[in-house]
Amino acid sequence: SPVDDTPPAGMDFASVAPNTEDAVVIPEGYQQRVVIGWGDAVLPGAPAFDFANQTPEAQAMQFGYNNDFAGLIPVDGVSGHYYLVCNQEYTTEEFMFTGYVPGEPTEQQARIAMAAHGITVVEVSAENGTGAITPIVGERNRRITASTPMRLTGPGAGSDFVKTSADPAGVTVLGTFANCAGGLTPWGTMLSGEENFDGYFSNASAVTDATATERLDRYSVDDDSDYHHWGRFDPRFDLGQEPNEINRFGYVVEVDPHDPNSTPIKHTSLGRLKHEGATIHVVSSGPDEGTVVAYTGDDERFEYIYKFVSSRKMKTGVSATARAHNIGILDEGTLYVASFTGDSPDAIDGSGELPEGDSFAGTGTWHPLLTVNADGSAQSHVDGMTPEEVAVFTRLAADEVGATKMDRPEDIEANPRSGKVYCALTNNDERGTDGEAPADEANPRNENKNGQVIEIEDNHTGTDLTWNLLLVCGDPAAADTYYGGYDKTKVSPISCPDNVAFDPHGNLWISTDGNALDSNDGLFAVALDGAQRGMTKQFLTVPVGGETCGPIIDRDRVIVCVQHPGELDDHSADNPASHWPDGGNTQPRPAVVAVWRDGGTPIGA
Ligand code: FEO
Ligand code: CA
Ligand code: CA
Ligand code: CA
Repeated sequence: SPVDDTPPAGMDFASVAPNTEDAVVIPEGYQQRVVIGWGDAVLPGAPAFDFANQTPEAQAMQFGYNNDFAGLIPVDGVSGHYYLVCNQEYTTEEFMFTGYVPGEPTEQQARIAMAAHGITVVEVSAENGTGAITPIVGERNRRITASTPMRLTGPGAGSDFVKTSADPAGVTVLGTFANCAGGLTPWGTMLSGEENFDGYFSNASAVTDATATERLDRYSVDDDSDYHHWGRFDPRFDLGQEPNEINRFGYVVEVDPHDPNSTPIKHTSLGRLKHEGATIHVVSSGPDEGTVVAYTGDDERFEYIYKFVSSRKMKTGVSATARAHNIGILDEGTLYVASFTGDSPDAIDGSGELPEGDSFAGTGTWHPLLTVNADGSAQSHVDGMTPEEVAVFTRLAADEVGATKMDRPEDIEANPRSGKVYCALTNNDERGTDGEAPADEANPRNENKNGQVIEIEDNHTGTDLTWNLLLVCGDPAAADTYYGGYDKTKVSPISCPDNVAFDPHGNLWISTDGNALDSNDGLFAVALDGAQRGMTKQFLTVPVGGETCGPIIDRDRVIVCVQHPGELDDHSADNPASHWPDGGNTQPRPAVVAVWRDGGTPIGA
């Protein structure tokens, strides 16, 4: 079809050019403001941030480090107010403390880092006539850290694999960390993916049991994986002392922000992996109406895409009663893992180029791994594995059923307008290298530096799907890139897609992490339909060394999390590469930014 230059509704803005500025760069005619950042007050009584005099007690009351996912959940009965829920994924101690000795935190530094992790809930008010939102330091707010008690549910809960000396019942876990992306549920809760939990546990070689060692290895846990060295000060992070503590991380966490005293839940029915996040699609018609489908990706090279299909139906509404019913929905149902088959495998040579007229497309299958029943009983669909083993060692289960090894599955989400599911496959520099899986049609490039985005037409509650690649990212001038069939001379270059979101018009928005094209990471809008399909426009870029995360695309505002500004090789707090957002000679701070259009008129209209 002929190229149409007219942007679809929601994408009518002047694209931001690639750049290396130490700033958030937005389109002409738009405004921005930092909403909240590392160290800002969250709980009443929180002291003002003092970079040179940090304490664990202060950090536990302040906004944490490295904001990733963000979501806005309406506050019941208070018009214009929302809970801003935000993951605080990880800490980089050398950027948090001057004079930090890598690998050798003081106890004070380790405990500050523990308090800087987890999830923040902060009430915000939306301002009339602009897209700005303002945080309110008040009683509705909450900091969830690496120490907050949480409840395990599903088949993994109470199993021998999660029992520890502090929790012999195996049901109460202290804390969450490595919270990367996430999603909101229609019942007013937040889902948060525990991702790179391997970076928190030391002394893997002290585990000598062959089965336990194989399980650690499958999650890439070895003596070198520990980055934070918390095990020096808290024995639960030392695998030699508490070999099961690690099995209590790697889940999807559900948080109810409406009750600041609620106990967050870790849903083992959704499996244990390096969850990028989890997003919800609810079937809206037919016999399965009300069935809840959770999509989740496992972000590591050659890992898989999963979904969970509930057996219970959602109760509509956000009343406390509906919420109580629905929070349990992610405990009962079936967990699946995906395989993808190409329709022209002979054309795939790992170069990313296809013969004229062909496309990257095919069919796929969801393979059941685990079914959990209403009475709590469960069936494994994997020979030789119990339900408890499938729930806790999910990667090993998925290995047995013929799932397709993907190029680092990051965020995956269904478009609310079309139901089509989009997954960002961020990159995989080891594809096709010695001993590793070669390119296939869904992952068509060896040594893939720029990533791709797969579009899936899913039979949401069933086991069949069809798919195609919407984007094969990278330099538009290169032969190994594809922008949905759109004229590549007219697109913004995109590389390393990470988070996906949708605007109210149904356009796909993608934030990037690790741009391999020598410019800063950014946020892009991508048209999905008609003659404009594949039109890709950069809406903003984040400061040097930063990653763009958590995007929220509302009618009147765009919100992004700027993660790890200034995180560049050969830099640290002793030699900062960024001074964003405070300027001058300040240390960089990860922060949440709101962007809106002059006059408060709709984004991209
Ligand atoms: Fe934390 Fe998959 O990025
Ligand atoms: Ca094909
Ligand atoms: Ca991510
Ligand atoms: Ca990433």
